[in-house]
Amino acid sequence: MIDKTIKIYIAGHNGMVGSAIHRNLVSRGYGNIVFKSFSQLDLRNTSEVFAFFSKEKPDWIILAAAKVGGIYANSTYPVEFLLDNLKIQNNIIEAAHKYGSKKMLFLGSSCIYPKLAAQPIKEECLLTSKLEPTNEPYAIAKIAGIKLCAAMNRQYGTNFISVMPTNLYGINDNYHSENAHVIPMLIRRFHEAKLNNSDHVKIWGTGTPKREFLFADDLADACIFVMEHINASDVGEIINIGSGEECTILELAHLIKDTIGFSGEIQLDPTKPDGTPRKLLDVSRLTALGWSYKTKLKDGLKIAYKDFYENFRS
Ligand SMILES: NC(=O)c1ccc[n+]([C@@H]2O[C@H](COP(=O)([O-])OP(=O)(O)OC[C@H]3O[C@@H](n4cnc5c(N)ncnc54)[C@H](OP(=O)(O)O)[C@@H]3O)[C@@H](O)[C@H]2O)c1
Repeated sequence: MIDKTIKIYIAGHNGMVGSAIHRNLVSRGYGNIVFKSFSQLDLRNTSEVFAFFSKEKPDWIILAAAKVGGIYANSTYPVEFLLDNLKIQNNIIEAAHKYGSKKMLFLGSSCIYPKLAAQPIKEECLLTSKLEPTNEPYAIAKIAGIKLCAAMNRQYGTNFISVMPTNLYGINDNYHSENAHVIPMLIRRFHEAKLNNSDHVKIWGTGTPKREFLFADDLADACIFVMEHINASDVGEIINIGSGEECTILELAHLIKDTIGFSGEIQLDPTKPDGTPRKLLDVSRLTALGWSYKTKLKDGLKIAYKDFYENFRS
């Protein structure tokens, strides 16, 4: 029987993942959840993080705070993507051990895998060949986090689990044009095209690359499932979280166009780069442990667009 009064710290509770994790914990009956926003606690600051942990001594930690962004942000601010992420995760992982936390979940990302990884990507693929150069600093920081959790487990017997989510979308996504990932970027562009009565929306590339997407509330459900039922020793260094399903960028664009009700056409711009042809996680390890995703892309997009329409459109 899981004790629902344990103290849980969510780092990054205002973000898309952190807020979904908060909703999931509340829905499962957890009532002792602590958090601080960025303005109250800068997680890059070691002494502030240690002071917070010394006071709160959380039993569980969900590490969902990070500097996150799309290709443009990654290639423009490589220093911040490497340094901020190293600082945030080093401080929290060290504090979790120092102040005796029982369990921690470290959120990595599928970009830790090699650019030319065999598909679908198995956990064993980590560090087998070169990374995608555009987000290498971010990926290197995440790999350092995985290795620090694994080293803590090996040397000090901690129970720190690293999960690797696929591409996410959902409530509270980031719609800033410089930072946005593909789904929020397309939602904004189709919405604006509809508003301006444009007759088309142009999509970069051939539309043929295949991608996997997971609704953030499903990811949150998987994360708490892992915290409740799985130990680091059950899964090795990392465990993938995804839907195990993929669609082409053109199929995705059509789904978003239909969700928004844009009546113009989709034009492809094959002179622009496509990126990796296929990126799909092998989720058989998590499936075998008893979790699989629930929200179909079509349904998740409706919820995401409603959230954008009500809270983020300018
Ligand atoms: N989004 C995806 O598609 C995706 C895919 C795979 C993995 N992930 C992983 O999931 C985790 C969460 O991502 P997300 O999409 O939820 O990102 P997000 O919406 O940008 O949330 C990140 C959170 O971290 C906080 N934060 C950043 N720097 C901080 C600092 N120095 N001190 C304190 N708080 C700080 C932010 O605070 P403010 O809100 O105040 O800025 C924000 O609440 C990340 O580890 C990411 O790598 C995300």
